[in-house]
Amino acid sequence: MAVAPMATVITIDGPVSSGKGTIARRVAQRLGWHLLDSGALYRLLGLHARDLGVSLDDEQALVALARELPCRFVEQNGDLLIELAGKDVTDYLRTEEVGELASRVAVHQPVRDALMGRQQAFAVQPGLVADGRDMGTVVFTQAPLKIYLTASAEERARRRYNQLKEKGFGANLAALVEDIRNRDARDMNRDVAPLKPADDALVIDSTDMTIDDVLHRILDEARRRTLV
Ligand code: DC
Repeated sequence: MAVAPMATVITIDGPVSSGKGTIARRVAQRLGWHLLDSGALYRLLGLHARDLGVSLDDEQALVALARELPCRFVEQNGDLLIELAGKDVTDYLRTEEVGELASRVAVHQPVRDALMGRQQAFAVQPGLVADGRDMGTVVFTQAPLKIYLTASAEERARRRYNQLKEKGFGANLAALVEDIRNRDARDMNRDVAPLKPADDALVIDSTDMTIDDVLHRILDEARRRTLV
């Protein structure tokens, strides 16, 4: 039986609040490609485990849940609607509360392995933009364009601060800088799939760049490599 070739993948990895989610969505929209928000899978799993009363330290139970995760990603005009057990959880998934659950399930290697096939299944024609922490280093090692998007901790904290203000939430800039530094340390120093640029990644420091600057940089690179 002929095996369909895997579609072209552009990976976008980077630390918390680097803007990779926004950029990945914009690149996917511009190219008309699919989008994988891999963090959402970890968030869905953490939420599902909590809803079912499964301990976030019970590796075997989490692996079983990861294999059967009853979720659906629906692409609507370039936006992604995410359902868990038939319920729309798109907005709730992005909360800090669920982020915390996600970071706890993400430390288990067998859990990461169980989510691997599910992530790779997103790589279908006409192409995929995959956003996460280990897209270029673990999940799509053959991707012909790997981006590592970063910015200074201060700039990332400022962006997060503005986002929270826009949504009407209170925020403290100094506390956000501290929080981002702590999360960086945890993500980069964890034993399992630590956050780091792939050897062949293009590192983009967006500290002094706008979203459009970053978008054009990535699209130019995709064209230069004749991927689009
Ligand atoms: O990108 P995010 O904030 O939605 O990620 C949620 C959590 O999942 C975060 O703690 C890091 C983890 N994660 C991961 O370990 N590997 C990925 N590919 C994506 C996210």
